[in-house]
Amino acid sequence: MIILGIETSCDETGIAIYDKNKNKILGDSIYSQTKLHTKYGGVVPELASRNHIEKILPLTKKVLTMSNLSLKDIDGIAYTSKPGMVGSLMVGSAFAKTLSFMCDIPSIGINHLEGHILAPLINDTSKKFNYPFIALIISGGHTQLIKVNHLYNYNLLGESIDDSAGEVFDKVGRLLGLPYPGGPNIEKLANKQKSIPLFDFPRPMCKTEGLNFSFSGLKSAVLRFWNKQKTKNTLMKTEIAYAFQKAMIETISIKCERAIKITNIKNIIISGGVSANQSLRMILKQNISDKYKCNIFYPPIKYCTDNGAMIALAGAYRMSDGYRDPDLKIAVSSNGSLF
Ligand code: KG4
Ligand code: ZN
Repeated sequence: MIILGIETSCDETGIAIYDKNKNKILGDSIYSQTKLHTKYGGVVPELASRNHIEKILPLTKKVLTMSNLSLKDIDGIAYTSKPGMVGSLMVGSAFAKTLSFMCDIPSIGINHLEGHILAPLINDTSKKFNYPFIALIISGGHTQLIKVNHLYNYNLLGESIDDSAGEVFDKVGRLLGLPYPGGPNIEKLANKQKSIPLFDFPRPMCKTEGLNFSFSGLKSAVLRFWNKQKTKNTLMKTEIAYAFQKAMIETISIKCERAIKITNIKNIIISGGVSANQSLRMILKQNISDKYKCNIFYPPIKYCTDNGAMIALAGAYRMSDGYRDPDLKIAVSSNGSLF
């Protein structure tokens, strides 16, 4: 089964072709709009939709060529239908449904979060998910701990009650004058710090029971600290980037540890843009995998952030299990709970 995947929920146009029989991405391309949005310090929805329209057709053509395929070879079209920015979702879904209608190929709308959850399976058949497992999605739009009972069956264990982890990386990045998106740029800066700074930031909600997160307090603590500084030089920015990243990662680690203890589940997948962070992977290895003999699965780095491959893969699983869109229905939504 060969599936064309289309992702346009935010500021990446992602197109990929996935062959389920071979468990292989045959072709894959992502156009990232970060340069377009960087001067605004965040994603401008109107600009994002306009750019998806510009890029979606040439990218699809490119990926078909890369894969040595034509539309006649495609068995199904999977597109992100929720959650995300509605204008952007509409571009991907209208494009997918038009192709589906014109070429008589079945289509399926995919929940973006399901795409992130399945992303560690891309190009790696050796990964065996034993159900149930815990999924931690840490992205720009979401911070959720999920119990995956089996494929397509999810329970929410905890989530951020305010900002998502990625959003706070982006906001702190903006405060320090780093380019958008803040996450990878904070990581780069933090890597330059050679010693532990003399100050520290809070690990919010770690003393509160349960598995919810709250990151707005951490964001405000960084803002207050920054405003108090007389010398706002690179040295100070580097120390703040390091201390902030450490507080964020340790908070995530504490909640993961608690999730393991509460559920007694020792398989975890961690996905979404923030899971590309190497310090996070290192600290979670020490605090979680080594300490509790847990398996942590990550997507390959390039599939941590938004991409078409995870949507193609999720579509292939769904379509093999008989799921299809009703023929002419296009339904996109800014919200899109999995539960
Ligand atoms: O999954 P994603 O591409 O989009 C959403 O579904 O939201 O995640 C984007 C987020 C951004 O907030 C970005 O700053 C963050 O992921 N991010 C990172 C890193 N790479 C991307 N955060 C921390 N460290 C990174 N290396
Ligand atoms: Zn995402």
